[in-house]
Amino acid sequence: MEKVCVLGAGGTKYGKLEDSISDIAIQASAEAIESAGIQPKEINAGYISNVFGVADKQVHLGPVIMSNLGIPEKPSLTIESACGSGSVSFREAFANVAAGFYDAILVTGVEKITHTGTEWTTTYFSYCSDFFYEGQAGASFPGLFASMALAYLTEFKATEEDFAEVAVKNHDNGLLNPKAHLRKKITIEDVMKSPVVASPLKLYDCCPFSDGASSVVLCSEKFAKEHSKDYIHVIGSGRGGSPAALQGREHMTTIPSTKIAAEAAYKMAGITPKDIDFAEVHDCFTVAEIIDSEDLGFFEKGKGVQGVREGQTKRNGEIPLNPSGGLKSKGHPIGATGVGQVVEVFEQLTGKAGERTVKDARIGLTHNFGATGASCAVHIFQSV
Ligand SMILES: CC(C)(COP(=O)(O)OP(=O)(O)OC[C@H]1O[C@@H](n2cnc3c(N)ncnc32)[C@H](O)[C@@H]1OP(=O)(O)O)[C@@H](O)C(=O)NCCC(=O)NCCS
Repeated sequence: MEKVCVLGAGGTKYGKLEDSISDIAIQASAEAIESAGIQPKEINAGYISNVFGVADKQVHLGPVIMSNLGIPEKPSLTIESACGSGSVSFREAFANVAAGFYDAILVTGVEKITHTGTEWTTTYFSYCSDFFYEGQAGASFPGLFASMALAYLTEFKATEEDFAEVAVKNHDNGLLNPKAHLRKKITIEDVMKSPVVASPLKLYDCCPFSDGASSVVLCSEKFAKEHSKDYIHVIGSGRGGSPAALQGREHMTTIPSTKIAAEAAYKMAGITPKDIDFAEVHDCFTVAEIIDSEDLGFFEKGKGVQGVREGQTKRNGEIPLNPSGGLKSKGHPIGATGVGQVVEVFEQLTGKAGERTVKDARIGLTHNFGATGASCAVHIFQSV
């Protein structure tokens, strides 16, 4: 297997954006290629992650992006895996570089959805659930994660204030991220007083609807060495699945696909959770970050809340989670999110994260899932 590297990264701001889906995808792609210090013609293929291109009247995004980069002859494909599309796209690109099929691949994730409004965005997103059992029955994602939150509160010694603490931390991190969607200092009281979306989850427990695009260039180590000093190694990659509908799960307070993907990634990297210096995890709702932190092996089951209370997951804590601001503050343009997490790890490990730098970090992890965790991918990166 070839050693795989991330050579460059870029992206638009996340939030409510005016430009079209194609425009933001092209902007992010061009920025990643420039950051890699290469010419577009050196890219062998494009892997694009997107879920609802149809909402902005553009599917088949690959050829549009490649044409605008001046390389229409290069092959491309679009990958959809709900909110986990970005990491699945990254994984497929990783596998193709590792197998020696390509030297350099552009991975771009993009979503443009906010113009459809709250009702339609919620409806579109529900198509990512197991629609027969969930979406069609009126269960939106806030509703599904509220069920998980309620189970967590019932099963463990946790409080709604513990969930609020996750939002406060991620908003603090997002304040230091110029590309974050919600850049606003909040307090526990703000979270507790915010409107209930699906009890026990309140407005500030939820990630927002976001537009945005993120992009990275993946390549073989030989290609990386020929082009730049600023690259990082991908040392672990794992994927996993869970029953699509929540009702098919044995437990509501764990996500099987995370455990399966993490185990595979740790095994490939030859490390354990203790070796991870920081992680970008899928905090679509505050409770999800706590569940993720346990499923990824950073805390024992039911002890994730203790880690939050003790500040262990803060940027200067023992295991910083979401230094970018996470989905909660940085935003969640669903097709872009998994790629955006890799952008953050690249910036952290190459000294480009500015004020939000995690001190002395050498190994970073990304964790991104689709729907309530029906599909998941975990990646582990190390500085050179
Ligand atoms: C919570 C939610 C319903 C709020 O959406 P909304 O009612 O359309 O909110 P609006 O866009 O009208 O914004 C209203 C205000 O709340 C703020 N806001 C919106 N979503 C927010 C969030 N998640 N957290 C904090 N503030 C938020 C807006 O900035 C705006 O503030 P302003 O009035 O000061 O400008 C929506 O963000 C949501 O469903 N989030 C979850 C998305 C999701 O399920 N993703 C998939 C995960 S698997």
